[in-house]
Amino acid sequence: MNSSVRKFIFHDLQAIEGYIDPPDALVFLAILRSQQSASLQGGLAEIGVYYGRSYFLLRKICGDGEKIVAIDPFDIVKPDHGVTQYERFAAGGRQLGLSVDEERVIKSDSTLLRPADVIERAGLIRFFSIDGGHMLPHVEADSRLAAASLAEHGIIVFDDTFNPAWPEVTAGVTDFLREEAGRYSVFCLTKYKTYVCRQPFHEFYARTIKTSPELKTFDHIETEFLGSTAIRLHNPMRRRIAYEVMVGLGMRAWSERAYR
Ligand SMILES: C[S@@+](CC[C@H](N)C(=O)[O-])C[C@H]1O[C@@H](n2cnc3c(N)ncnc32)[C@H](O)[C@@H]1O
Repeated sequence: MNSSVRKFIFHDLQAIEGYIDPPDALVFLAILRSQQSASLQGGLAEIGVYYGRSYFLLRKICGDGEKIVAIDPFDIVKPDHGVTQYERFAAGGRQLGLSVDEERVIKSDSTLLRPADVIERAGLIRFFSIDGGHMLPHVEADSRLAAASLAEHGIIVFDDTFNPAWPEVTAGVTDFLREEAGRYSVFCLTKYKTYVCRQPFHEFYARTIKTSPELKTFDHIETEFLGSTAIRLHNPMRRRIAYEVMVGLGMRAWSERAYR
């Protein structure tokens, strides 16, 4: 089953404009499969859907039965597209043959939402991706919303951490971790994302990252971060170049081999 998801990540998903690259897509796959194997239940949620690249990845991995809350104002206007942001998102689903669960789409600024808005649509959340507004008030509000709607065993993934283009994301995430005073810990770091769980589940998720066959291709480097040991997944330059060359030559179907 994972081989069809891998094909999807490296081929089909690339048709959707967006911002999740293969290494993080493989981390999503590893975490969600590990939750399924351990019967850790709960809904999924994403703030910042854009055209659905991460949303459709979640849908592909988890199937139609899972409840995914999708939060975005959907107000991006690109005149050359000729359709609204939401219409383009919905069209992406049709193109990929994946469903958009309209009852769980919240067309709103996430900072205006309460935890009940999320929980009443999907129950407590086991996987919460934050990739919406990138300024400090957004990250503060979004991390509070995620923490208050998270299942005990849930994870929060923050996008664009340590990206110099968005310094307030990093400030917001470190504020959150320090204010929570050890209740949350970072178990995985990638070039673009920071993965956080509640402290009692740190060992479970760290083991997931260490042992997942999907992630063995990366260098695993133990990195201390605000009181926890996170596994930093390093993607060597030679692989990134090999991948980009294959994609540039139109060999998408082969590009997956660079990540075995
Ligand atoms: C970088 S894009 C997200 C990329 C997406 N996660 C993907 O996988 O391609 C950021 C998105 O956040 C949305 N956004 C910006 N401010 C927001 C806010 N205050 N609340 C919710 N979403 C917001 C934008 O409309 C945009 O769609």
